[in-house]
Order: sequence, then structure tokens, then C-alpha cells
Amino acid sequence: MDQDVAKAGTPVRQAVGGQAKGASRRPLAPALMTIFGAGGDLTKRLIVPALCHLVRARELPDEFAIIGVDHNDRTTDQWRQMMADAIRDSSQGEAGEKDICAWLVERMYYMRGDFTEPATFDRLGKELTERRTSQNGAGNVLFYLAVADRFFGPIVDQLGRAGLARQSKHAWRRVIIEKPFGHDFASAKALNARILKVLSEDQIYRIDHFLGKETVQNILVLRFANGIFEPLWNRDHIDHVQITAAETVGVEGRGRFYEQTGALRDMVPNHLFQLLAMIGMEPPTSFDADAVRTKKTELIHAIHPVSAANAVRGQYGAGAVLGRQVPDYRREPNVAPDSATETYAALKLGIDNWRWAGVPFYLRTGKALTARTTEIAVQFRQAPYSLFRDTPVEGLPPNILTLRIQPDEGLSVSFSAKRPGAEIEIDGVDMDFSYRDFFEPIAAVGYETLLYDCLIGDATLFQRADTVEAAWCAVQGLLDDWGRTPPDDFPNYAAGGAGPEAADRLIARDGRKWRPIRANGRHGAARVRPANHQQK
Ligand code: BG6
Repeated sequence: MDQDVAKAGTPVRQAVGGQAKGASRRPLAPALMTIFGAGGDLTKRLIVPALCHLVRARELPDEFAIIGVDHNDRTTDQWRQMMADAIRDSSQGEAGEKDICAWLVERMYYMRGDFTEPATFDRLGKELTERRTSQNGAGNVLFYLAVADRFFGPIVDQLGRAGLARQSKHAWRRVIIEKPFGHDFASAKALNARILKVLSEDQIYRIDHFLGKETVQNILVLRFANGIFEPLWNRDHIDHVQITAAETVGVEGRGRFYEQTGALRDMVPNHLFQLLAMIGMEPPTSFDADAVRTKKTELIHAIHPVSAANAVRGQYGAGAVLGRQVPDYRREPNVAPDSATETYAALKLGIDNWRWAGVPFYLRTGKALTARTTEIAVQFRQAPYSLFRDTPVEGLPPNILTLRIQPDEGLSVSFSAKRPGAEIEIDGVDMDFSYRDFFEPIAAVGYETLLYDCLIGDATLFQRADTVEAAWCAVQGLLDDWGRTPPDDFPNYAAGGAGPEAADRLIARDGRKWRPIRANGRHGAARVRPANHQQK
């Protein structure tokens, strides 16, 4: 029997991260975890709840302990209480929550410390040795940098100075670094150079939390585990691609951070480019971390540098989002009254390679928009109309493959169908797949797979140094252009709308239009009635 066919018939548990998921996941080795930023929002909202879900799935080893480091004075008991409260808030009464919480919290220890002081790291070294001995662990340590980006360099320097990053044959040391990784090409390059003096690339796990989303991981499975898409996945068959990450939230009290960042830096070279890379990359030779990341990086390298002529920025003014009044962005706390920071960005990208030459990729993201939705729409080339020339059919609706990343996770394909009846009348109809119809929902905050993969040493879902630098490089020209020329039309879209009109013009000049921004991601089928329909 054909090997490939035989394999295709067996249950496949292999996942994008290279590890077998679910019941057959590889057990984790004993490890200690150090969270810098133990009292921060990220720890409470995402890291600790994700650890709880790993406990629920019985994936954390018994010999596991967490040392939380932060600059506030508090005792271990106080920190445990804080984390127990956070678990209660996030779990919304999930079964077994109390036991899971008790299991995790009794493995938590708090240490007060300044992230830049050598003494903190000397004490941390002692604490790690003590915990390791009492937990009978092997000395594996995951350092999670859940701190403001200005501390990334100093913490890694200090880990190096105190000898805490040194690995041995039997003990690994890994560091998870949060976003933002740099604020432009030069700073990302400098940060890479700095941390690579202390750590080797395989010890560094640069997080992009979009890669923790099941639907994002599914893109590769969709493309490469099905025979029907890949033959069409190129410039001969695809007209264009739209990637949308629309949010209804504003800056949610993060004015200070957002003023320095803006929509372009916050979302494009990281989250949107990761989606773009998944959609556009060449097939890797395996799901090995470097095989996948090399292909993604090649795609990002092929992005034609974006210029201001192919981009639109926007800032929201007062309006109503989902029935709630929202003030001008400029009136948010810690935002300058004449702020030039964009809360919306739309880009037209070209990819300079054989597969995608001539296929535009339109990307857009914004805050305070009409609905929350992240989706990728792949629009195929129109079928030739010639056959219908002498019929009443006026035009053919396009075939669109839509990947709904969130919140209504699923996928749909739209195509043309004949409406029953004597005349030729064409309707655009949808074939639809929704995750919730096929799979049991799993309680997750999106960091579970990322944490598990890091603990097992699989970096597939993390960004490599060259990927991050290539992404900044692609948008650097635009960052410079926008930095040099302040916008003169802000605010240029109303909160609760679909973004600035200039974004519609950006795509309309190519004879195309944006898909409507809808929360349930379904766009309804297009109906193409015959020209003389009304007279019948
Ligand atoms: C973060 C950005 O990285 O991603 C936020 O800093 C944004 O501004 C968020 O709101 C969006 O993530 P998600 O998972 O809610 O779509």
C-alpha cells in the first residue's frame, strides 16, 4: 500500500508545534519557572490561568515550582492569595478549579527584587538552587519576562552575569520574551545583539500571542494537510488577500504605551505579518521549528518595502461602539490633546516571489471599530464570464475562502450556484465550517500551547531573531515616512465605524473593496440576479 495513503488514514495527532498534542503529548520534565513581573497584568490574566489549564490537562510535572519576582514588597502568602484570586476571576467556575488552584499556588514563591540590580539575581540564584533541591528537580529553568520592554535587555544581562543562563547537558535554561520586541528595525537588531551575547538563539522564545491561537495554527494544517488548496495557492488563481484585525476596544487605559506605539507598530510587523507568513509561506520540509521558521522568514523577507503611498493611517474621534459612547482618542487618559498617533492602519503589500508576484495583500487593523473580528479572506480569480454572455447573468460572484480567526472561529468558501428554476440565475452561496460545531470547546487563554512548547523545547510557534528583524525592515520606510510627516486630518474616523475613508480609496483604486467588518465573520452569500429579473 502507498505509504502516504496509509498514513493519511490513521488518526493524526501531530500538530503545528511539532509535538503530539492531547493525550499523546510528551510529558514535561521537572522545571522551575521564574516570572519577572509577578504582580503584573499579564501574569494575572494570561500566564497563571494558562498554567491552570495545563494543570487541568495533567501536563505540568509534580516537580514544578514558580518563583515570582517583582519590585513590590509582598510575602509569598500575599502573592499566592493574589494569584488564587486571579485564577478564580479567570476560571468562571470551571469544574475542579479549587483543587487545580491549590496544586499550583502551593508551588509559588515570591521574591521582591529590582529588575536591574545585581543583588536580585544573586538572590534568585540561591532561591533557584534551594527550590531545585527541595523539588528534586533537574535544574531546568524557564525565565518569563512579563515586564515592560525596557527591562528585557537589563534582565538578560543580569541573568548572564549571575550565571543563571548557563545550561548544562542535563539542565536547560530558556527565556520567554514578550512583545514589543524593539520599536523599529534598529532597536530590534540592537536588542537581538544584546541578548545573543548571553543566550544562544535556541534559548530565546520571542512570543507573538497570535501564534497561540488554535485558528492561526490551523492555517498550516488547512494548507498542507489538504490536497485541494495548495494547487490553487498562487498568483495564477488568487486575485488578492485581505487580512483584517478589527477591534472594538480603544486603548483601555494604556494611553502612555499606545502613544509611543500606534497601530502600525502594535499589530502589523508582529501579529498581522505572522498571519501573512502562514498564508503565504512555501511548504516547509517538516514541522521542525527551524524548517517552519525559515519558510516564514523567507516570506517576510519577500515583502516589498511598504511606502506611505500604499498605506493609510487613522485615528478615531468620538462615536458609539456597540452602543457605548467613546470619546476622541485624544481625550483618553495619558494621550496628548494633539496626538499624531494612529489607532488604525491599512496597507497594500506586494510579495516579491514567484508564487505571489502581482497578488496584492491588503492588511488593516484598528481600534474602536464597528465589530471585533480577525479574519483572512483569500479571493480567487474570477471565472471567465464568456459562457454567460448571452444569458441574463450580469456578473459572477467571486470565490472567497475566509478563515475566521476570531471570535467566530471557522472557515467558509463562497461559490456560485444556480438558483432552481427555468432561467439561469446565479446565487453566491457559502460552505461553512465552525469549530464549535465539530469540536468540544477547550478552556484556554491562548498561552497554554506556547508555555507547553517552551517547556518542551519546541520553538516553532516563537519568533526567531531574523524573522523579527525582517518584519521591522519591511515597515521601516513607512515608520520613517509617517514619523516625518504628521497627519493633518486626525481624527479621521468615528469610533464605531469601519475606519477612514482613505482606506476605502486605497483598495478602490485597484478596483476592489474591503469586506464588511462583521463580528460573526459571515458575510452572507452574494446574489447575482439576471438583468431582466424584475420584469418577470
Ligand atoms: C496586543 C496589542 O499585542 O494584541 C493590543 O498590544 C491588541 O493592542 C491585542 O489589543 C489584540 O490581541 P487579541 O488576541 O485580543 O486579538
